[in-house]
Amino acid sequence: MTAMRAWSCFILCAFRTCIGHSVSKVTPPTAYVTLEMYAAVPSGSDVSKPGNIDLFDASGLAKFLATEVVAETGKDPLRTARENGIDTIVKYQIRVRNNKTSSDVDVQAEFAKFVRFEDGAVLPATDAEMFARSGDLVGIQSYHPPNGDVRYPTDSTFYWFSLSGPCPNLPSGKKTSSNCTKYEKGLVPSSKSQYVSGGLCNRIFKSNIPDGTPGCSYYVENFTAKKLDSIVGIKEQDCGGRQCADWQDFRLHCSNTNLSFTHLGVKYCKEYDFPGCLTSCQDSACHAENEVGLPFWTGRCNASRNSDRASAIKEAFGGSIVDLYYAHNPSCDKYGPMCNKPVPDAGVSYCHRDGSGVCDACYVPGTANPPSPRPAAQVPCRVDLFLNKKMPQYKDAPPVCASDCHGNCSLATDRDSCCVYVGKCNRVWQHDEWGECDSKCGNGTKHRQVWCPFQDIFGPCDESIRPANMSDCRGSSCPWNPHEFGNWSDCDDGCGNGTEVQSLICDCPDGCPMGDKECAQSAKPPQPSRPCFPVGKKTGPKFCTACPLAKGRVTCTGCPRGFALQGDCEIRDRVALVTYHAQGKDLSLTDGWLASAFIPAFRHAVSQETNISVDVINFTSSGSEGDVFGSGGVDIGIVAASQDNTDESLNWTSHQLASVNMQQLAISFQNELSKYGCTAEHQCSPPAVAFSLVKKPDMMCPPPLVWSNSCRVPGTPPSHGFPGWGVALIITGTLLLVAVVAWAICSRCKSAPPGQHARLLSAA
Ligand SMILES: *[C@@H]1O[C@H](CO)[C@@H](O)[C@H](O)[C@H]1NC(C)=O
Ligand SMILES: *[C@@H]1O[C@H](CO)[C@@H](O)[C@H](O)[C@H]1NC(C)=O
Ligand SMILES: *[C@@H]1O[C@H](CO)[C@@H](O)[C@H](O)[C@H]1NC(C)=O
Ligand SMILES: *[C@@H]1O[C@H](CO)[C@@H](O)[C@H](O)[C@H]1NC(C)=O
Ligand SMILES: *[C@@H]1O[C@H](CO)[C@@H](O)[C@H](O)[C@H]1NC(C)=O
Ligand SMILES: *[C@@H]1O[C@H](CO)[C@@H](O)[C@H](O)[C@H]1NC(C)=O
Ligand SMILES: *[C@@H]1O[C@H](CO)[C@@H](O)[C@H](O)[C@H]1NC(C)=O
Ligand SMILES: *[C@@H]1O[C@H](CO)[C@@H](O)[C@H](O)[C@H]1NC(C)=O
Ligand SMILES: *[C@@H]1O[C@H](CO)[C@@H](O)[C@H](O)[C@H]1NC(C)=O
Ligand SMILES: *[C@@H]1O[C@H](CO)[C@@H](O)[C@H](O)[C@H]1NC(C)=O
Ligand SMILES: *[C@@H]1O[C@H](CO)[C@@H](O)[C@H](O)[C@H]1NC(C)=O
Ligand SMILES: *[C@@H]1O[C@H](CO)[C@@H](O)[C@H](O)[C@H]1NC(C)=O
Repeated sequence: MTAMRAWSCFILCAFRTCIGHSVSKVTPPTAYVTLEMYAAVPSGSDVSKPGNIDLFDASGLAKFLATEVVAETGKDPLRTARENGIDTIVKYQIRVRNNKTSSDVDVQAEFAKFVRFEDGAVLPATDAEMFARSGDLVGIQSYHPPNGDVRYPTDSTFYWFSLSGPCPNLPSGKKTSSNCTKYEKGLVPSSKSQYVSGGLCNRIFKSNIPDGTPGCSYYVENFTAKKLDSIVGIKEQDCGGRQCADWQDFRLHCSNTNLSFTHLGVKYCKEYDFPGCLTSCQDSACHAENEVGLPFWTGRCNASRNSDRASAIKEAFGGSIVDLYYAHNPSCDKYGPMCNKPVPDAGVSYCHRDGSGVCDACYVPGTANPPSPRPAAQVPCRVDLFLNKKMPQYKDAPPVCASDCHGNCSLATDRDSCCVYVGKCNRVWQHDEWGECDSKCGNGTKHRQVWCPFQDIFGPCDESIRPANMSDCRGSSCPWNPHEFGNWSDCDDGCGNGTEVQSLICDCPDGCPMGDKECAQSAKPPQPSRPCFPVGKKTGPKFCTACPLAKGRVTCTGCPRGFALQGDCEIRDRVALVTYHAQGKDLSLTDGWLASAFIPAFRHAVSQETNISVDVINFTSSGSEGDVFGSGGVDIGIVAASQDNTDESLNWTSHQLASVNMQQLAISFQNELSKYGCTAEHQCSPPAVAFSLVKKPDMMCPPPLVWSNSCRVPGTPPSHGFPGWGVALIITGTLLLVAVVAWAICSRCKSAPPGQHARLLSAA
């Protein structure tokens, strides 16, 4: 799937470059193939005439360097250059045309077998016989995912190429030997040299068009050389307060201790190492944390990182133009047997010219009758394989999709992807998320990318429904007013012992159409806060119950002393309940500092005057609204727990509460109000209030006891009263008396008249 996404991106990018050039000319394909190839060489090499050498595509080069050149383990710590002196990368743009009638040209449709060159000579030397037999051939070695090389996983196929030069069988110094390989008899005219001359076209006329004859199978359009050090970022490394100059400087002076090691007492730095993963990324000894090296090299066992690495190499050379080859290189569908016998309902035996420009077998996902298992070591075909107008292919054999293809064009699933290949899906405009508003405060504009997917395959989308790519917006960094504040919040504790805060005011222009969101990104100034005691809100029995708290939690936080919540609120100690009445002049208790200070101030004033800790448990206004403190005044219920939970202390407590000096209480209350924030600063002046006792205190005992001069079980006489036998005696005596009276009445009624009988019965 990753490869699939890579392709779609690849196509979109190609499309974007196309619109820049408006109309691109459709040129007929060439007989040769144009490819980008890379070489890794020591500096000073003559790179202008590549021959007797192995080259790579970008991904293949990255693999070669990562697996063969830069890893530290197994190399001489004393070396003064990278493996084989490699420090230069050359990118060639090369035209290739092999002799296709030769039976040796049977790899990736257009190439011969890859041969390995070492010091300019084919190894093993017998591999050079191919050149004698069929002329000079460009060879190819392909690495197919998932495991083209177990040390270097990739998502797409990558390649190495071999370019034969003069006398391919002998090493560099011996190229003029009479032992050099000769072409087989008749392959070149007898008037010409019979020695194998190499594939690099070197003629007087038409040298730039390779024709696949001996001596001319490739032509170098141009090439660029770059230092490997600059590509991998050696110069961005620190060498003790300065940038490292090159590999050797880095090796001796790098300051990154993560990369350094010591050998015979000397400190060196390694460019890259991955001990444990030397032979395979699947070794049990291969653990990601052992990998060290320049950021360019790390992630060797990660296919996605390896693909990034190949892109980085292409970028270093100014980017790849390889996709343009798709229009000019020969189409792959004619090459047998690999490519010209597709199976449409299975979606296999197709070929595409891939990101490296090579014909490669590929499959179409999501077909009606897919092979099981999926073809091994094949990548999904490029999505424009069938519909790219510049290179029509497989016209008579488009894939048969499993889906009915009525959905939106998408590569999200295999079924959807197949529909994109055949061009049967609804195209919908795509867009990114909106970007940030370009204004910090007030009116601004926001932008997003809007694009038409797969435009190069299906043509343009419906312009009339193109979504907007910009929109009005409001900034979200307006300042909060640090001096003015809004309404007070509700109390965060329904039991009445919480905090309330004053809201912030956002200073936004045009009257804040988006409200406080326009200040959301600005730092908040401190908000005024104060304790709160919502009045008359207690609902549960006995004044403590599960109270609503801020943020939806529910719990009791405020049982008055002497009560406990155990499922239900229960009286635990002997307590006294008193109700006082307060009378003042037209004062609102709904909001403001007076309301917030009223209850805690009253509570403290009572405690002060009685020396007893009390809690306010309820609060009602006799006025109309429940909050206007004036006409009718307010009743305040308080509760006090007896000090040591004895009958005597309860008696004492209630006596104290009943006999409090009301004038003193009023003075004390006024003082307390100002301590709780009812001050001039808050536009609050403590009002004059007159208090009175509503009724004598109620005394309450822990159940099942009730108060009746003391706490006792209901129905029992005072503890110093009658003993049990006394009660029995009284009952017996009473029964006896009743019996005697009843007998006396009955003896009398026998002689009484009937009317009187009825009256007596009813009286009984
Ligand atoms: C291609 O190779 C075959 C032998 O494999 C040879 O007969 C033929 O002449 C070659 N063609 C060219 C154009 O060199
Ligand atoms: C050619 O090869 C033969 C046998 O391998 C060897 O004896 C001879 O010296 C070689 N000739 C040259 C010029 O290298
Ligand atoms: C190489 O030549 C091709 C055209 O033949 C051109 O598009 C490309 O930019 C050239 N590359 C360099 C590095 O000069
Ligand atoms: C060295 O490695 C540690 C842990 O992996 C990392 O946090 C640190 O940034 C590295 N130091 C440098 C200079 O890269
Ligand atoms: C591979 O690298 C990519 C980043 O390029 C990362 O997101 C991913 O997690 C890596 N995969 C593994 C298996 O480490
Ligand atoms: C296709 O895209 C449109 C617009 O984005 C969306 O409303 C619709 O739900 C999509 N249909 C399907 C089948 O996903
Ligand atoms: C912001 O936009 C609204 C309506 O779009 C407009 O009424 C208002 O004047 C604008 N404000 C400023 C400061 O430009
Ligand atoms: C927005 O879309 C218009 C065409 O509708 C285009 O001209 C413009 O460049 C786009 N702007 C951005 C920022 O993408
Ligand atoms: C503040 O309270 C007043 C009166 O209750 C109300 O009219 C106003 O809308 C409130 N303001 C905010 C921002 O909630
Ligand atoms: C109210 O809170 C104060 C301190 O935050 C605490 O001392 C007091 O006991 C609480 N009162 C109640 C009834 O929970
Ligand atoms: C407070 O509650 C008690 C017991 O429920 C009740 O007797 C008293 O009248 C209430 N006082 C006020 C002011 O509501
Ligand atoms: C209760 O206290 C009052 C005054 O302190 C006292 O006169 C009375 O005898 C006490 N009653 C009991 C039952 O202790």
